[in-house]
Amino acid sequence: FHPTKYLKGLARAIEARGGRFYAETVHVGDEEKDGGVEVTTEAGPVIRAGAAVFATNSPTNDKVAIHSKQRPDRTYVVAGRVAKGSVPDSLVWDTYDAYHYVRIQPLGEREDLLIVGGGDHRSGEAQDMDERLAALEAWTREHYPSFGAAEYRWSGQVLEPIDFMPFSGRNPGSTNIYVHTGDSGQGITNGVAGSLTILPLIIGEDSRYAALLDPGRKSLTSVTSVGEFVRDQAGAVKNFAEYIGPGEISSADELAPGEGGIMRKGLIKLAVARDDDGTVHQRSAVCTHLGCLVHWNDFEKCWDCPCHGSQFAPDGAVLNGPAVTPLAAAD
Ligand code: FES
Repeated sequence: FHPTKYLKGLARAIEARGGRFYAETVHVGDEEKDGGVEVTTEAGPVIRAGAAVFATNSPTNDKVAIHSKQRPDRTYVVAGRVAKGSVPDSLVWDTYDAYHYVRIQPLGEREDLLIVGGGDHRSGEAQDMDERLAALEAWTREHYPSFGAAEYRWSGQVLEPIDFMPFSGRNPGSTNIYVHTGDSGQGITNGVAGSLTILPLIIGEDSRYAALLDPGRKSLTSVTSVGEFVRDQAGAVKNFAEYIGPGEISSADELAPGEGGIMRKGLIKLAVARDDDGTVHQRSAVCTHLGCLVHWNDFEKCWDCPCHGSQFAPDGAVLNGPAVTPLAAAD
C-alpha cells in the first residue's frame, strides 16, 4: 500500500466526478448562513456551500472545543536499507510510551527500505532531536540487525486525542460544518473511516460510527486518560507563565545561521531567527491561535506552538494550523 499513489488515485476519482481542487486558498473565517456555510479566504473570495468539512489535520475552524481534547506530538522516523526478506512484511507497534512503529517499503528485487518511527514528545517541548534520532537508530539496529545505516531521517506532527479515538463528524455547536482530526498518525485509515462517517451525516442517512467518533463526545475512556488530559492542559498553563520569564537570547547576534531563539524586548517576547544566508527575522512570539508562546524547533527550523500544534516558518508564515494568520510583526 503506497500512500501517495493512493492519494493520487483518490484525487483522480474526485476530479472524474466533477470535484475540483484549489491549492493556495487559505481559509481565514467561516459562518453558518441561510442553511449553508460561507468560508472566507485570505485572498478575499468567499466560498458558499451547503456543508463544509474541515479535514485540515488540526481544525482551523475551531478555536477551543476540539483543541482542548487533543494534544500535538512530534514524532521521529529513520529509514535505511535491509536485505529483502530479512524483515517480515508487516506493520508493527510496540507498547512502550512513546511507542515504536515499523514497516517496510519494497525497493527492488534485493532490498527493502525499513522505516522505523518513535521518540515522540509534546510539540515544542524538546530540543534533543539528535539524541532521539540516534536512540531510534540504535533501537532499530538492536531489533533488526540487518539494518545498516539510516539514509533518511525526518519528523512529523501527529494529533493525539484524549480518549485515543479520532474526532470525525459534526463540529460541536454547528449544523452544516464538519471536522475530521485526531488521527494519532493513522490518517490514511482513519481518513477513510471519517469519510464513511461524515458523508451519511451530510446527506441525512444513518452513520454507523457517528456516535463513536462524535467530535462533541464527552465520554472519557478511563481515569488514566483524564489524568493525562489534566497533565496535558498543565503544559498550556506552564506556557503562559513563560510570558514573565527571561528570553533565551539578548540579541540576534547570538544566533548562528539556521538558529532561532526567544528574545525579550521590554514587556514583549520576540521570535528571532537567522536564515542560512544570514537574514534575520523578528516576529512576535505570540501564537496567533490562542496566544501561547512559540518555541524554536531546531530540527525542522520552524516555530512550534506547544499548546495546540500551530507551526510557523522563521519569517512567521503559517505552516500548520490551527493558527491561520502569521506571527505578528515585531513592533
Ligand atoms: Fe493554540 Fe498556539 S496553537 S495557542
